[in-house]
Amino acid sequence: MNYIGSKRSLLNFLDKSIHKIIDPAKCQVFADLFAGTGVVGTHFKKKGYRLISNDIQYYSYILNRHYLGNNDELKFNNLILKMPELRHVNIKDRRQYLCDYLTSIKGRPGFIYENYCAGGTKNKSVQRLYYSDENGLKCDALRQLIESWKKQNHINDNEYYYLLACLIDSVDAYANTASVYSAFLKSLKPTAQRSLKIKALPLIKSNLMHDVYNQNIDDLISNIKCDILYLDPPYNRRQYATNYHVLETIAKYDNPILTGKTGLREYEAQKSLYCLKKKVKNALKNLIVQANSKYIFLSYNNEGVLRPGEIKTILSKKGKYGCFTQKYSRFKADKDHNRSYVADQTIEYLHYVIVK
Ligand SMILES: C[S@@+](CC[C@H](N)C(=O)[O-])C[C@H]1O[C@@H](n2cnc3c(N)ncnc32)[C@H](O)[C@@H]1O
Repeated sequence: MNYIGSKRSLLNFLDKSIHKIIDPAKCQVFADLFAGTGVVGTHFKKKGYRLISNDIQYYSYILNRHYLGNNDELKFNNLILKMPELRHVNIKDRRQYLCDYLTSIKGRPGFIYENYCAGGTKNKSVQRLYYSDENGLKCDALRQLIESWKKQNHINDNEYYYLLACLIDSVDAYANTASVYSAFLKSLKPTAQRSLKIKALPLIKSNLMHDVYNQNIDDLISNIKCDILYLDPPYNRRQYATNYHVLETIAKYDNPILTGKTGLREYEAQKSLYCLKKKVKNALKNLIVQANSKYIFLSYNNEGVLRPGEIKTILSKKGKYGCFTQKYSRFKADKDHNRSYVADQTIEYLHYVIVK
C-alpha cells in the first residue's frame, strides 16, 4: 500500500541501524506504536521478535491485526457449511481461493457506492468520484458479505481480519486519487477504471503471541513495556484521519455523517497531536517520559514540524542519544498537482536513545 511515511523502502536502513545499537540477547519485545501499514512490525516479526503494534486508525489496526495477529494458516472450516466446495480445497490454498471468490462476486449498492461514486451521488448535492461505479458496488458487496459471514459465525476473528485486510489493501489500489483521499480526480484515471481484484495477502507464521492495539498512543504508552520502542509519528501537519478517511469508512463501515466536497467523516478523536505545530513538542516529551523500554528509536525527516535539535533534547533526557541518517526520495502524493517542492530528496533521521 502506498502510504504517507511508509517505511517500506527504509527497512534495510532501519534494521541495520537498530542492530548496530541494541544487544539482541537482551531484546525480545519490539513495539511499533505508530504502525501504519505494518511493514516495520511485519519485518521484525519475521526476525523473531514478539511484536506490540498500535495505530489510531482502524484500517491500520485491520492490516496489523492480520500481519501480526495471524500466526497459523487460516482454515475457514466453518465456511464449508456455506461453501461446500471449500472442503476440497487444500487448507494452504484456501486464502487464495476465497480472494478469487470475492473477486468474482457481483456488486451491490451500499455506503461506498451511494457516497463516493458518480452513479450513487449523481442526484445528491455533491458529486464524488473516488471509485468507479463498478468498483464501489463491488467494495460494498464484499464489505457486507464479510460482515455477514462474521455475524453468522461462518468465519472466526482471525479469518475476518484477514479478509478485511485483503479488501482494504486491494481497494486502495483502485482509488481515483492522486494518492491520498484528501481529494478525488475529476475523471477516472486508468488504474481506477480497472476491475477490482482482491489480492491474497501473505500470512507470516510465528510461535509467539503478538499484541495489536487501536488506540491513541498517548493513552496507551504507560501500559506498554518493551525492549525496543520504535516510534514513527506523522512528520508534518497532514492528518492521517483526513488523508485516509475513505479507507477508514470502508474499514468501519459505520454509515458516518459526511461533510464537504470530499465527504469527510468526523475525526475529532483521531486528530493527532503529532501533526499540530503548537502541540507536538509537548506530546513527544510526555510520550518519551512515559516510555518503558531499553531502547527508543524515532524516525523523522529534515522537513518535519520538529527540528533535529529539539528531538535530541527530548530524547537525551532519557539516556545516551545518537542518530543515523539516510537520503530518501520524497513521498509523491501530489506529483500530478502543481506543488513546487524545495528538493526531491529529504534526509531521513533515525534518532535513538539507549535508556539509562
Ligand atoms: C508515519 S505513519 C507510520 C508509517 C508506518 N511506519 C509504515 O511504514 O507504514 C504515522 C502513523 O501514526 C498514526 N498516528 C498518528 N497519531 C497517532 C496517535 N496519537 N496514536 C496512534 N497512532 C497515531 C497514523 O495513523 C499513521 O498511521
